[in-house]
Amino acid sequence: MKLVVVLSALLLLSLAAVSSAEEFDFFYLVQQWPGSFCDTKTGCCFPDTGKPATDFSIHGMWPNYAKCKTQGELDGVIEMVTKGKKKCWPEFCNSEPLQLWEIKDLVKELDANWPTLACKGGKSIEFWSHEWEKHGTCSDLGQHGYFAAALGLKARHNLTAVLADTGIVPSDSETYSLSSINDAIKEGTGFAAKLECNRGVAGEVQLYQVYQCVDRSGENLIDCPVPVQGNCKNRVQLPAF
Ligand SMILES: *[C@@H]1O[C@H](CO)[C@@H](O)[C@H](O)[C@H]1NC(C)=O
Repeated sequence: MKLVVVLSALLLLSLAAVSSAEEFDFFYLVQQWPGSFCDTKTGCCFPDTGKPATDFSIHGMWPNYAKCKTQGELDGVIEMVTKGKKKCWPEFCNSEPLQLWEIKDLVKELDANWPTLACKGGKSIEFWSHEWEKHGTCSDLGQHGYFAAALGLKARHNLTAVLADTGIVPSDSETYSLSSINDAIKEGTGFAAKLECNRGVAGEVQLYQVYQCVDRSGENLIDCPVPVQGNCKNRVQLPAF
């Protein structure tokens, strides 16, 4: 009897979670530099569509909270799952799988701008599916809207071009000051971005990912509601690809 009560309470709570719109404050549009993805001990593999362009590519568009939430600030369902741990973004909001037919008209653009570089099969659709399931299901945009929004933002704010305009071009020998990269992005897109660096095989610090903040509509860049301090050092590389 007790079990039945607990189970029906859980069911009610999960139904409530499915039907309510997802609460989040902004998106991170995360783009990665392929040269930095590949110059690591793990390395990279090209997708079955061939070597991607020498251009930033999309990692994902991630719903995020402006302030991390603790137990009690979240609704009952998540509270039970996280047990007091802080949660800074929602994820896996429902179990709706990505349907290729929903994004059919975007596949060509997705192949060019959102290619997988992971060495597990070479199918970019698996990468898109993962991003959809983990982040897109929390976006309130729907499948087509989610992917179209990320592609639109990337096309309107071409980071490769923004950096090249100030002389920051891919090179295995040049290093660039972090402030010159920050300034170029602020100047070229209108907004500061958070920069993430990784280390190449030889230990050099390389610009790996750029996090731009986007409003809940998925249409406009905004001033980040969270600090944009990243982990890069004073001088960074943009390795050739
Ligand atoms: C972004 O700009 C670079 C450099 O000008 C260019 O090669 C690339 O094709 C552009 N990317 C897109 C998606 O237009």
